This record gives sequence, structure tokens and C-alpha cells, in this order.
Amino acid sequence: MPSELNFFMTPSLILIQISLTVAVLPADYESRSAQAKQEVLWTQIQAEPHDPNSFPVEAPSKLQSALLVVPTHLRHAFTHVSDEMIEGRVKLLHTYGICAKAHLVMVPDSRYTGIFRTGVTGIVRPSIAKLSPTNFIPGMGFKALLDGKPSVNFHTLFSLDGQGANRNYFHNNMSSVISPPSSFAVALASKFFEMALILLPGGASKRPEDSNTMTVYEHASVERSGATVPASAVTAPYKIDFVPNKDLGYSESDSADFRTRIGAIAPGTRLYTMVAYGNKADADARQGGEIIGSMVTDSAFLASKYCDEKLHFKHATQPWKQ
Ligand SMILES: *[C@@H]1O[C@H](CO)[C@@H](O)[C@H](O)[C@H]1NC(C)=O
Repeated sequence: MPSELNFFMTPSLILIQISLTVAVLPADYESRSAQAKQEVLWTQIQAEPHDPNSFPVEAPSKLQSALLVVPTHLRHAFTHVSDEMIEGRVKLLHTYGICAKAHLVMVPDSRYTGIFRTGVTGIVRPSIAKLSPTNFIPGMGFKALLDGKPSVNFHTLFSLDGQGANRNYFHNNMSSVISPPSSFAVALASKFFEMALILLPGGASKRPEDSNTMTVYEHASVERSGATVPASAVTAPYKIDFVPNKDLGYSESDSADFRTRIGAIAPGTRLYTMVAYGNKADADARQGGEIIGSMVTDSAFLASKYCDEKLHFKHATQPWKQ
């Protein structure tokens, strides 16, 4: 097929995809317990697994990717309150990942509040920003499920620039605050995310500080049970480093798909140790970091249609406050 034709065919192909993955969450989904919601999501994730011998690798079309420069389109990543994507939307970045049930186990007597004190159960989704043979750009999402309330989600990255030829997913920290990108093209792309932030309702006090900060303030404001922490008591880390379990690492020049490597991890494995910094000055200086907990898997990993096409990780919006 000539490439122009391929380009214009895409909308109808999208429609076919949509018809195969219709919205499935039950009407009373949000009111259920965290455990019950995890089971609903896990059943969907298991419904249409990808073939592990032939993982999907097609990038979103040029037409779809053009939406990455449309702030009103990007804004939905921050405003759509659901564990499921808006019908017909495509993950333009982090298109492919792999999902597992997992929980955060926190150290006792944490000075941080909300789920950082109670721990939480959810779904982890390691992914890479774009499949590229020359630049490996790992990311990790974690959906923290709450009893009777919408989830709060972690978005973490090593760097928007990626880790180049190093294909070991577990080589670098995944962080909630990253350095500004050095590549001009990437810096330009992140400007569009900042324009999307400016479009958020509520003004500067209701939006993340910038596109390199994936704020965790909301996470400190609510407990696993759905109980709200009084605003005066909320203590949130400014930044969290998810430090990978080095035992899971593999060769930097590994030729296998990252989903093959992660797919081999056994349930009950510690994926990350969480190190928190209480304010920006400490985070920038890398001083005063404290181990606050770890992330442990509760199932095998599975790459699937729902994990890639429907599972939605809403971005948090509340900026960090002392
Ligand atoms: C990873 O995070 C830990 C904890 O914050 C920090 O001590 C370490 O320096 C980080 N590693 C790198 C390579 O940045």
C-alpha cells in the first residue's frame, strides 16, 4: 500500500480497533473496594493477551501522533477521571507496556501521609515511550486503587531523553521529578504538555509546577481506605526515586523485547525501593533521601490489549506543598 494511502486509511483502522475494545467497567466500579477494582481490571487485562512470540510494535500513525501538539487533546490526560481511557483515544506515548498486580508496602511510622503511610494495592505498568532500536526510553506507571474513590496514579521516568543504547529496563531510577530534556526536539514536545497544563481548570495553584514534575501530593492526601487526610496534616514527598531491584537487571545490549524480560519476573518480586525527598532543595542536592517503602508484584506480568489500549493512568494535578 502506498504510504499516503496508508496514512488516510488509519481512521478506519482506528474504528476497527475501537469496536474490539469497548468500555467495560461496571457502572458501580468506582464505589467498589480497591481489591474488587483490581480484580475487575485484572480480568480485563487477561482477556486478550498479546502473543509473547510476536508482541505488537507498530507506532501510532502520523495522523494520531499529530495530536501530541494539540494541548486541548493532551489536557484530557489530567482531567479524565477514570481507570479507562476515553473511547477511541490512543496512547500516543508509552503505547506499549506490560501489566502486573502489585502493591506498595511502606515503612512503619512514615512522616508522609495518605497512601505513603497506609500502603496501597494496584496495577504496575512498565513501558517505553516509543519503540526505537537506537534509544531506550523507559517509564513506569503505577495505579494506586482506593476503596470507593477514583485511583491516584504514579508516572515515573528516568529522563525524557532516554538512556540511548542501554536496553536494560532496570538500569536507571524511575523518578517522579526528572531533569529538563536536553534534546531540542524533546524539549519542544514537552512545551506542548506545558501548554496543556496551562489549560487545566483552577489556575496555577491547581496544576503541576511543570512538565518534568509528576506530582504526588494527591497521593499523600488520601488513604488506602479512601479516607481523606485533613489538608493541614498532608505531608507529601517532593520527589520519589523508584530505585530498581538490581537483581532484575540484564545486559545493556540485550536484544530481546523489554516485555519478554519483564514477563519472566515471578509474582512476589520486589521491583523497586522507594526513596523520598521532602523538598526541592534536598531533591536537587540528592541529600536527605529516605527509604519510605517498596513496590512488590502480586501476579505474573502480562502484555495485553487492555493494558495497552484501555487502562488509563490519569496524571495528578495538585502541585507539591510544604
Ligand atoms: C537513584 O536514586 C537513589 C535514591 O534517591 C540515589 O541515591 C542514586 O544516586 C540514584 N542513582 C542515580 C544514578 O541517579
